Amino acid sequence: MKGIKGKNVLVTGATSGIGEAIAAYYITEGANVALNYRNDPEKLDSTKELIAQMCSKTEGCSGKSIAVEGDVSVEADIVRMCDQVVNQLGSLDILINNAGIQTAAPSHELKTEDFDKVIQVNLRGAYLCAREAIKHFLKRGSKGIIINVSSVHEIIPRPTYVSYSISKGGMENMTKTLALEYAPYGIRVNAIAPGATATPINSWTEDPQKLKEVESHIPMGRVGTSEEMAAITAFLTSDDAAYITGQTLFVDGGLTLYPDFLQPWSAGE
Ligand code: NAI
Repeated sequence: MKGIKGKNVLVTGATSGIGEAIAAYYITEGANVALNYRNDPEKLDSTKELIAQMCSKTEGCSGKSIAVEGDVSVEADIVRMCDQVVNQLGSLDILINNAGIQTAAPSHELKTEDFDKVIQVNLRGAYLCAREAIKHFLKRGSKGIIINVSSVHEIIPRPTYVSYSISKGGMENMTKTLALEYAPYGIRVNAIAPGATATPINSWTEDPQKLKEVESHIPMGRVGTSEEMAAITAFLTSDDAAYITGQTLFVDGGLTLYPDFLQPWSAGE
């Protein structure tokens, strides 16, 4: 992919699911990746192993990785993490705001601390990472790119996941606001919005019956893979996407296309 080789990339939540696939994709494309992880050294080891395996099968795989521990709901961790990336890799070119969590509860029963936690990780954390990355981009006086990993729930309401829906809806506005504010400085900010993707965040990933139910709602008849999300993320940060900013690219097998309209609405239609 054009313009990726040699770039320095920070991926938050890089030791699982979509983040892990994004990190691996960049390394096989010759980028250097800072793998953010949180209290899970075993997961970090398995991610490093996966990356080494993928790299060994890829000709010219020259990217290197470093590990940066930190909780994106803690401001001091984010500041330290970004400094670490710049100190160890020399600069930061691309930030991937991927870390995310969700909590389910009827909205009238959701505990305040559970609401706050989801917003702190998914939205505030993504903003603070973006803020630190932008400071660095401006200081060094050259371009930079941010990708926010949003969700189809940026636009599809999700009952019992109100904090998650709010966090991703907010992410859409943050993507547009930052894109507009920093376009004059050559900084691009975009988002990908995955549909249902088989990763550990979803209980149906390991349950064939539940998986079938999920797939029945998706026009393309299957869930997405982390690798598909990684490829689109990388595309948006490549030179081929150099004129795109402020956009959310939905990667969802048609989930946001009002799937109910696939069927006639009444016998007469
Ligand atoms: P996952 O559970 O496999 O990965 C989430 C990652 O975020 C983990 O590495 C976890 O350690 C990290 N994380 C959580 N809290 C953190 C914190 N406070 N600080 C640093 N890292 C933290 O889930 P998945 O699916 O890979 O999720 C990645 C992103 O994709 C999330 O933002 C999620 O909302 C989004 N997404 C996922 C979809 C899916 O169906 N899997 C659909 C739409 C969006």
